Amino acid sequence: MKGISILGSTGSIGVSTLEVIRQNPERFKVKSLSAGSNIKVLKEQIQEFRPKFVSVLKQAHLKELKKLGLNFKVGYGEEGASEAATIAGVDMVVSAIVGAAGLLPTLSAIRAKKDLALANKESLVIAGSLVTKEVRKNKVKLLPIDSEHSAIFQVLRGSRKKDLKKLILTASGGPFLRRPLKTFESITPKEALNHPTWKMGQRITIDSATLMNKGFEVIEACWLFNVKVEDVDVLIHPGSTVHSMAEFIDGSIIAELGTTDMKGPIAYALGFPERLPSAKAPFNLAGKNLKFMKVNSRRYPCLGLAMDALKAGGTMPAVLNAADEVAVGAFLKGKLSFTGIAKTIEETLSLHKKKEVLDVQDVLEADTWARLEALKIIKKKKF
Ligand SMILES: NC(=O)c1ccc[n+]([C@@H]2O[C@H](COP(=O)([O-])OP(=O)(O)OC[C@H]3O[C@@H](n4cnc5c(N)ncnc54)[C@H](OP(=O)(O)O)[C@@H]3O)[C@@H](O)[C@H]2O)c1
Repeated sequence: MKGISILGSTGSIGVSTLEVIRQNPERFKVKSLSAGSNIKVLKEQIQEFRPKFVSVLKQAHLKELKKLGLNFKVGYGEEGASEAATIAGVDMVVSAIVGAAGLLPTLSAIRAKKDLALANKESLVIAGSLVTKEVRKNKVKLLPIDSEHSAIFQVLRGSRKKDLKKLILTASGGPFLRRPLKTFESITPKEALNHPTWKMGQRITIDSATLMNKGFEVIEACWLFNVKVEDVDVLIHPGSTVHSMAEFIDGSIIAELGTTDMKGPIAYALGFPERLPSAKAPFNLAGKNLKFMKVNSRRYPCLGLAMDALKAGGTMPAVLNAADEVAVGAFLKGKLSFTGIAKTIEETLSLHKKKEVLDVQDVLEADTWARLEALKIIKKKKF
């Protein structure tokens, strides 16, 4: 029986993880849950899965949990999430908090020698060197939950690194693939939240519409698979049937295909090295869209910004992520236009004085600086 801790249990990935666990009660036991502010859903999860430890974002939320009258320990804030990740009995931590807030609990999990099923791509985007160093030092397994990286992880099993030529990440292109570029200015949050193939949390859905999510995934792939940004290609694949591919030196391209359901990559990470039987109807390839296209960089400037931030290195990717978090938040509140997201991030990056990342403090300082700077830019300009 594998003991599981879920950080971000009330989110899209957290809920799907609990569904996988519900379908495999003989394999997995939920030991701890960490959530933000969705106490209603968290209470239902506690009643069903009976964890030993529960953490929430704010201390004030704990009162509500006590009313359940069940026997579990509690914590709150960053420390609470870290404690959830490190308690005895946890073998694997599913890191699925959204944004930079996931970094410290993720590092705590690794330092406590817990295997990591990583959905929180921001940890690798902003602190890839630190996270991978800790993974090596503590000899834990790092299993990607992002569908593209899970695909590549599966494709590369049994291959020699020296035979790999490049990684090819697929992107659906989001809801605006065919929308005239001149109308991008007027895109509303409602339109941007309407992703054509995947159901996800709000931030990643907007990041998918701008392709910043793909930019983050390029950075994530470089850290996970130890390749350079030049060795990662992105192709638009509107059907999202091929989750990603690897090209080898002999010209062969190997891909992983399947449904657009995150329970697939989650089950793969939880069950690794075994594969868990799927409760879903078999995936029918007949009639599936297998078209691929190049990315139009004028339509998706965020992808280039992400690749440039990775090439620049140091604190630049942390600034990229923080500026994006702020810009996406402002867009969702109607305070920034859709095209203003990329402009805000570009301007924040251009103002940043890059530092090397020697420890987590360097990342956190860059993150705080970028959030303030992005907010100033949004207030000053009418993007
Ligand atoms: N959704 C997908 O299909 C998908 C695919 C690949 C990768 N990912 C990655 O997985 C992560 C989670 O994505 P998601 O779509 O599941 O996001 P989501 O639906 O917005 O859920 C985010 C979770 O994080 C919690 N949370 C937010 N801020 C927090 C904080 N400061 N401290 C502690 N907990 C906090 C939320 O709690 P409350 O809701 O209780 O406030 C919720 O449980 C992201 O890094 C995303 O890029 C997601």
